[in-house]
Amino acid sequence: MNILLTGGAGYIGSHTAVTLTEAGHQIVIFDNFCNSDKSVLDRLERILKKRLPLIDGDVRNTALIAQTLEKFQIDTVIHFAGLKAVGESVDRPIEYYANNVQGTISLLEAMSLVNVKSLVFSSSATVYGDPQYLPIDEEHPTSATNAYGRSKLHIEEMLKDVANSDREWKIICLRYFNPVGAHESGLIGEDPNGIPNNLVPYIAQVAIGNLEKLSVYGGDYPTLDGTGVRDYIHVMDLAEGHLAALNYLSTNPGWIAVNLGAGKGISVLEVLNEYEKASAKSIRYSIEKRRAGDIASCFAKVDKAKKILGWQTKRNVHDMCASGWLWQQYRKNLP
Ligand code: NAD
Ligand code: UD1
Repeated sequence: MNILLTGGAGYIGSHTAVTLTEAGHQIVIFDNFCNSDKSVLDRLERILKKRLPLIDGDVRNTALIAQTLEKFQIDTVIHFAGLKAVGESVDRPIEYYANNVQGTISLLEAMSLVNVKSLVFSSSATVYGDPQYLPIDEEHPTSATNAYGRSKLHIEEMLKDVANSDREWKIICLRYFNPVGAHESGLIGEDPNGIPNNLVPYIAQVAIGNLEKLSVYGGDYPTLDGTGVRDYIHVMDLAEGHLAALNYLSTNPGWIAVNLGAGKGISVLEVLNEYEKASAKSIRYSIEKRRAGDIASCFAKVDKAKKILGWQTKRNVHDMCASGWLWQQYRKNLP
């Protein structure tokens, strides 16, 4: 199949590009590089021994998207492009709605113009808001606590309307839990700007010596060791989830949402211990007060992905930390 990856130069998109190319699909990357670097194309070429075609553009450029869909005879779009920092979305909501919601409307306009009606959308566990029960299944009520989450929710609902309006549309919303780790080559990985907000990128910066110590946000949660529990998923497992979603879409019209997670909760201290083992570094930390807006535990029920997509995770938390550490060491020498 010919597949367009909007935001394909980013963290999850670049890993998915590897998995899909290795499975025999033809990939085209469409990205404006607002949160990624063009050198990822060189590094993908090293992994794949082949140069992936790139269109440097913004998803809000409807004409350019339509032209790209036609030029490369695209069958399916995977829509990763968007902004994703929760805190920033609270300060700059207009940018988030413009990029995420308006960007998706522009993409949908282009797709319907040239009659490409198959779409995989990068959604998030954030659409569940504060969990009312665990593990979280796809029937859990949705809500949003910030502009980023609300943009994802708006998009999911828009996509449902589109699928309801025309039986030809095939749309799957993949609700990712906490993606971490890197490709086993260590040549691509997560590359956040500035000081990371998320746990594993922050630990990586402490391990490599760029940051002094980790603040563990809360040691008094009602969890096994008092620290926050999340469902971490290896980014290569996540990439394989997209391959499974494409197979599903090829024969299933309509709209569906599916959780992609490991289905298992891991605490902050468990991640820290695994990262210490994987990196052979001692990682300084102190227990601090809870981060505003955080919840004690969040993890997925993953039966639907298993049943409908025939997919489940294969890699464990050690693989996540070991691959992430490999990437971290490579990344420190990048310009
Ligand atoms: P990322 O920032 O690494 O990748 C996003 C890519 O999209 C970047 O390369 C960026 O340059 C590009 N982009 C952004 N706006 C664009 C636009 N208007 N036009 C063209 N390109 C644009 O993020 P990621 O972690 O790879 O996330 C990919 C998707 O998955 C996002 O939609 C994100 O919201 C969603 N998601 C991510 C996580 C996570 O923890 N990483 C969790 C749940 C959902
Ligand atoms: C964050 C996002 C969420 C997104 C998810 C996916 C926020 C509020 N939420 O959630 O929308 O879908 O990432 O990646 O940003 N922690 C520390 N010290 C740190 C950083 C984190 O102790 O320096 C703890 C947190 O309290 C939490 C766990 O580590 O218990 C994971 O945090 P993080 O990586 O930020 O992910 P989420 O909070 O799940």
